[in-house]
Amino acid sequence: MRSFTFLILSGLAAVASAHFQLQFPEPRGVFNMDNEPTFCDGYDTVASNRTSFPIGSNGLISLNSEHPQWTATVLITNVSNPTSFDNFTQITPFFQESIEGLFCMHFDLSSTNVTSAGGIPLQNGDNVTMQILYNGGDGNLYQCADLTLSDSATTSSISCTNTTSSAFGLSAPSTGSLLGLAGLALALL
Ligand SMILES: *[C@@H]1O[C@H](CO)[C@@H](O)[C@H](O)[C@H]1NC(C)=O
Ligand SMILES: *[C@@H]1O[C@H](CO)[C@@H](O)[C@H](O)[C@H]1NC(C)=O
Ligand SMILES: *[C@@H]1O[C@H](CO)[C@@H](O)[C@H](O)[C@H]1NC(C)=O
Ligand SMILES: *[C@@H]1O[C@H](CO)[C@@H](O)[C@H](O)[C@H]1NC(C)=O
Ligand SMILES: *[C@@H]1O[C@H](CO)[C@@H](O)[C@H](O)[C@H]1NC(C)=O
Ligand SMILES: *[C@@H]1O[C@H](CO)[C@@H](O)[C@H](O)[C@H]1NC(C)=O
Repeated sequence: MRSFTFLILSGLAAVASAHFQLQFPEPRGVFNMDNEPTFCDGYDTVASNRTSFPIGSNGLISLNSEHPQWTATVLITNVSNPTSFDNFTQITPFFQESIEGLFCMHFDLSSTNVTSAGGIPLQNGDNVTMQILYNGGDGNLYQCADLTLSDSATTSSISCTNTTSSAFGLSAPSTGSLLGLAGLALALL
């Protein structure tokens, strides 16, 4: 009986410490499990080695989920050295997935309203930082990737098998649905 209780408790503990790891674009630094509940997984300064990321329809985001069901959203900034959540703008609605393991989605930056720091549409050579907010039911987790946008960047070598048909940035969520989906994310907690 005692070992039965122990198994249940240790099972819960395992769920409560499950995380996610951004695969592409590559995160700012080596995955740090303890820091993932904080801004950019605890990496407060911009990486010097930015990932080359396509501006158009061959953009993608790939991550490994340790939870079977989760919600996430994508935040972007054009600030050159973002140090705070205040610097980021949420550019997709919260979306819910039931994929454990590798997950991949299409992500077309050119169809979002993100601009360069100069306010003009994104172009070759612009630097942006992407932050993924992920929640598998036990709190928000964050990873960041520092990017340089490039027309010639290719993602064809990246395995994108467990994918969804959703291509974000194609339509703007209304404020109402954003709040509704945020409510859903909270309800999952
Ligand atoms: C982008 O960042 C790199 C360093 O990571 C820098 O050399 C380059 O000048 C930056 N580009 C722009 C347009 O600010
Ligand atoms: C940048 O360099 C660090 C340290 O060598 C490495 O861990 C990280 O994977 C690199 N990131 C990219 C995007 O190449
Ligand atoms: C980034 O956010 C910090 C903290 O709110 C703020 O002080 C800073 O001005 C912001 N940077 C830019 C370029 O907006
Ligand atoms: C793809 O997702 C399924 C669940 O939908 C999971 O069982 C499988 O392990 C995933 N594949 C990979 C390569 O992670
Ligand atoms: C980028 O910079 C421009 C001008 O500074 C600003 O208006 C815009 O909101 C910024 N952020 C994004 C995500 O486009
Ligand atoms: C981009 O801005 C236009 C004009 O303000 C707006 O109609 C459209 O919904 C926005 N799209 C996104 C993806 O935010």
